[in-house]
Amino acid sequence: MPRRHPPPRVHLFVCSNTRPATDPLGPGCGENGARVFAVLKEEVAAARAYNTVWVTRTRCLGICPKEGCTIAHWGSNVQGEILSEVDEDTARALVRRLLSG
Ligand code: FES
Repeated sequence: MPRRHPPPRVHLFVCSNTRPATDPLGPGCGENGARVFAVLKEEVAAARAYNTVWVTRTRCLGICPKEGCTIAHWGSNVQGEILSEVDEDTARALVRRLLSG
């Protein structure tokens, strides 16, 4: 029988999908997503919020920005949202806002 676990307070999904530069949908979030993912993990570690804020790298979330990357988040007591054109500074501010709420 599967074991049940409580959901995190918030779960962030970060696109780091990469496509060929010639793809009609654009090159994807790629390295921008990888950098934002690293920043999010650093912020969560600095806050020692491993159990309450989860960060997961994903493939395409369906909104492919020309700059930055796309993040989707939701959780047990936060309003979910999808953000695009996210850079490292926005990611830091997002984690701090989510942790303070
Ligand atoms: S490639 Fe990142 S949202 Fe589509």
